[in-house]
Amino acid sequence: MKAFIGGTSLTSSTLFKHWDEKKVETPHGDVYLKATGQYVFLQRHGKKLLPPHMINHHANIWALRSLNIREVIAVNSVGSMKVSIKPGTVCIPDDFIAPWSIPTFYNYEMKFLVPELDLSLRDRLHTLCVELGIEVTLGGTYVQTTGPRLETKAEINFLRKFGDIVGMTMASEATLCMEYNLPYVSVCSVDNYCNGVMKEPLTVAQIQENARINSETLELLIQTTMTGGPL
Ligand code: HPA
Repeated sequence: MKAFIGGTSLTSSTLFKHWDEKKVETPHGDVYLKATGQYVFLQRHGKKLLPPHMINHHANIWALRSLNIREVIAVNSVGSMKVSIKPGTVCIPDDFIAPWSIPTFYNYEMKFLVPELDLSLRDRLHTLCVELGIEVTLGGTYVQTTGPRLETKAEINFLRKFGDIVGMTMASEATLCMEYNLPYVSVCSVDNYCNGVMKEPLTVAQIQENARINSETLELLIQTTMTGGPL
């Protein structure tokens, strides 16, 4: 079984409408997923569309493990700190920074993890994007902020020295997957230039509009992985 995890960029997607609803009880709370054949779709924000800092990542990833998921393809919304990574494109990062928020399943056991995103899955997804004519940046460092507010200009000025894109979800989710040896890759929907990167002021309306446009690209990507792409 393979899993897709979606966030704000797939909230109004109709792609999963006819998939079966599934409830998974976990020690961290109930999780509702959509399932069809060998695939499940998890909306990480849950039915109530919780804001990023309230997402129940532990329940989400526990549920995926209990379903024997072998591969996770996540879609995460980001802002870009680099002029070359343009809104309306996607970026498949190869690393992340989130030292101020590191969730774990191992609170009572000495378990140390060497984190790594799944590079083979990353390359396969990149090939698929290129084949589909999707403008994609391969590689880059994702910086996770806690949200729910966007970053200040000063924060972005600081973070851009170390990373390329900023979001509020991927590092936590990836870390928990890695603890369960679940190969994880993220396709980031670049929805805006981060605060202060461009002269024009950043607006939430602009982020939402780009996310809407990008959702069509992401749906195409998901659909193709299910219908005979290289995944
Ligand atoms: N910052 C953090 N998360 C985001 C952004 C951003 O600019 N855009 C989309 N998700």
